[in-house]
Amino acid sequence: MPTLLRLDSSPREEGSHSRAIADLVEQHLQSTHSDLIVTRRDLSMMAIPPIANETITGFYTPEEAMTPALKEATSRSDELIAQLKSADSLLISAPMYNFSVPSSLKAWIDQIVRINETFSFDGASFKGLVPVKRAILALSYGAQGYTDGGGLAPMNFFEPYLVSLLTFLGVEHIEVFRLEGTSGLSPDSIADEKAKLSAAITQTLQVLEEVATV
Ligand SMILES: Cc1cc2nc3c(=O)[nH]c(=O)nc-3n(C[C@H](O)[C@H](O)[C@H](O)COP(=O)(O)O)c2cc1C
Repeated sequence: MPTLLRLDSSPREEGSHSRAIADLVEQHLQSTHSDLIVTRRDLSMMAIPPIANETITGFYTPEEAMTPALKEATSRSDELIAQLKSADSLLISAPMYNFSVPSSLKAWIDQIVRINETFSFDGASFKGLVPVKRAILALSYGAQGYTDGGGLAPMNFFEPYLVSLLTFLGVEHIEVFRLEGTSGLSPDSIADEKAKLSAAITQTLQVLEEVATV
């Protein structure tokens, strides 16, 4: 059965635009895959700790040399990586915070990007080891002009970062659905934009059914 791991990172539970976009994606996938198993993780509530000195030591220690303390220090990373690697598809919702990702999402990233677990390096090149077939990003921005060569594009350390990171980890198919200008648009304009996004989600994901599972 196809599996989807959904990660939300906006601390806003009510009225969150990024979560609303992810809801549209999830509803579409549920409607086209009745057997879809969805695992949801709310990163804003999980308080994933920043990686510590012992965590880094554990990341670089061979399995046979791991002590109980190092195993404990890497256990959160083990758990999050296992969850990620067992998913067919990944759905991440996120708001732009200070031109980048919210710290809860960055904490998750720091736990799951790990040598010989999610990427490898042979001395010359890197290889992604994450078998997730497709990632879908549901993103919201307060201002406009971050994409398509807009005036704020040089300040976009959010969407290009997430796309590059997932590509680095080996995810081949990445689709982005975004809403820009949430701080300035009227409620009517936002509703119009979400209706357009809903249509785009249906159309784009239908095309993608041909290239990736879920
Ligand atoms: C702490 C914080 C930092 C933000 N930084 C930016 C920013 O750098 N650029 C921007 O366009 N919007 C910024 N915003 C606005 C959010 O990206 C915008 O309100 C977004 O729609 C929030 O997503 P949500 O509705 O899913 O919570 C920021 C909002 C907050 C609360």
